[in-house]
Amino acid sequence: MCSLHAHVNLNDATPAGDFTSKRKTNMARPPKYMLNPLGVASLEAAPDWGSLYDDPTRPLLLDIGCAKGQWLRQLAAENIVRLEKDGRPFNYCGVELYEPLVLAANEQAKALGHRNLHYLAGNAVPSLRALQLLNLQTVCIQFPDPWSAKKRDRRVVTPEFVKSMAEVLAPGGQVYVCSDVKPLADDMHATMMASEMFSVTEELSCEVIHVRDDPTALDEQDCFSSPTYVSVAEGEDKEPAWLPNRPFILGTERDLVCEQKWRRIWRVLYTRLPLGDLHDKSVDGWWWWITNP
Ligand SMILES: C[S@@+](CC[C@H](N)C(=O)[O-])C[C@H]1O[C@@H](n2cnc3c(N)ncnc32)[C@H](O)[C@@H]1O
Repeated sequence: MCSLHAHVNLNDATPAGDFTSKRKTNMARPPKYMLNPLGVASLEAAPDWGSLYDDPTRPLLLDIGCAKGQWLRQLAAENIVRLEKDGRPFNYCGVELYEPLVLAANEQAKALGHRNLHYLAGNAVPSLRALQLLNLQTVCIQFPDPWSAKKRDRRVVTPEFVKSMAEVLAPGGQVYVCSDVKPLADDMHATMMASEMFSVTEELSCEVIHVRDDPTALDEQDCFSSPTYVSVAEGEDKEPAWLPNRPFILGTERDLVCEQKWRRIWRVLYTRLPLGDLHDKSVDGWWWWITNP
C-alpha cells in the first residue's frame, strides 16, 4: 500500500466514511489499491432527490464506481454531447466507495452549478433498492475492480446485484458494462446472462446528441481502426456482440488510458427484459410483480 493511503486499515470494521479526519487531500493522485467494498457501508436511505435535482423525474443515468466523477461531469455539462430519452435530458448520479472523491466531486458539481448531477459515497452493490431511484434508465459499470475469483464476493456484478438492477430499472432500461480485463468481462457477461433478466443489445435506448466535437477525445479513426476492435473476432462466435466503440461518445478516465495504450476494451450493452418475461422467470413471485408496475 502506498504511504498516502497507509492510514486506511482495510480490515477495520469501522463503517466507510469514518476516516474523514485522515482524509486524502491530494485528489490528483488516485488510490493505488482497490478499496474493499465489503468494508464500506451500504447506503441505507434515499437522499432527498427533489432537493438535489431541478427535476428529479428526468431520466436518470447511474454510474457505479465513478471514481472522481469526471465522466459524469462532462455528460452533465451537456456541451459536448447531451443524452435524452423521449426528448427529455438526463440527470446523472455517481456512486463511489471512496468518500473523499465523492465529497470533492459534489463540491465541483455545486461550483459548476450542475443541478442535474449528484454523487453518493458507499458500496453500490447492496444499496440500489434503498436509493429509490426515480426513472432509472441507464446503469453504467465501467472498468469495475477486477477482484480475483477467490474474492468474487467483492465484485460489482454479482447475481444479487443483477437482480436488484432489474428491479430498479425503468421498463426498457439498459445496463452498459465494460472492462479491459477479458476474464472479468466474460464473468460479468455470464452473470448478466445467467440472470435471464437481460438481453444483449447493440442500440442505446436513449439518444446521444452531438452538441460539439470533443476536443480532448482521440480521433475515432486512430482508436478504432485496429482489427482488435472488431466486435466479434474470428472463432469468437459464442461471444456477445462486443460494442466496437464507446456508446456515449465521451470516455471515462480509464477508457482514455486504455485507448492511449491501444489496450482492448470489452464493452457490452444489455436491455432489461420486459416484465412479463421477468415474471415468467420468477424473480420474486407476486410481490415483485405487484411492486414493479
Ligand atoms: C478501476 S476504477 C474505474 C473508474 C471509472 N469508472 C473509470 O472508468 O475511469 C473502479 C472504481 O469503482 C469503485 N468501486 C468498486 N466497487 C464499488 C462498489 N461496490 N460501489 C461503488 N464503487 C465501487 C472503486 O472505488 C473505483 O474508484
